[in-house]
Amino acid sequence: MKITYYGHASLGIEVGGKNIIVDPFITGNPKASGIDINSLKADYILVTHAHGDHVLDVETIAKNTNAVIVSNAEIATYYGGKGFNSHPMNHGGSWKFDFGKVKYVNAIHSSSFPDGTYGGNPGGFVIEGEHKNIYIAGDTALTYDMKLIPLRTELDLVILPIGDNFTMDVEDAIIASDFVDCDKILGYHFDTFGYIEINHEESIRKFFDKGKDLMLLEIGESIEL
Ligand code: NI
Ligand code: MN
Repeated sequence: MKITYYGHASLGIEVGGKNIIVDPFITGNPKASGIDINSLKADYILVTHAHGDHVLDVETIAKNTNAVIVSNAEIATYYGGKGFNSHPMNHGGSWKFDFGKVKYVNAIHSSSFPDGTYGGNPGGFVIEGEHKNIYIAGDTALTYDMKLIPLRTELDLVILPIGDNFTMDVEDAIIASDFVDCDKILGYHFDTFGYIEINHEESIRKFFDKGKDLMLLEIGESIEL
């Protein structure tokens, strides 16, 4: 499984021979100006919730690629109604896709579209690939529900928001990584705007002091699991 960071909460995942884009917000992020969204490959677009900083480039990428948009029922229906391919899910449900199994799990946040359209309840995704399992938390507060995830899935990586203000901060993300029983963390949802700027070295050290590995990727950088 290969994971590429496209800035903010945007990810590319290569798994099982398929390309997945998660929460594409690239053209609206000046820090991601080096990423050409028209060159991105996608068989699926996973959307955690409907906020603008997670859906901005969904339609462009879906038009370019014919990707299937996977999200909660409200978001999937919204895009389905616009003629896009979509797969609706809801909290606690899993589906076996051709690249692996995806479960839509709880997040404590909100989820309206930028125009005010109801975007259902926000979530995160647990992805069980061929050899590796990951949890993408989406925008969320620390929540006890995270403790349910390792009861079913042994994680190889957890992707957590760490920017504070709209989501968890570093301290809560450390507790979240305990809750999901995974010491390998990719941080996201930081630095994009003033509200969520973080001190990288201090954040990495705080995780390190608890025996955990926080990775902060450059935009465009990838890791291989
Ligand atoms: Ni949000
Ligand atoms: Mn967000």
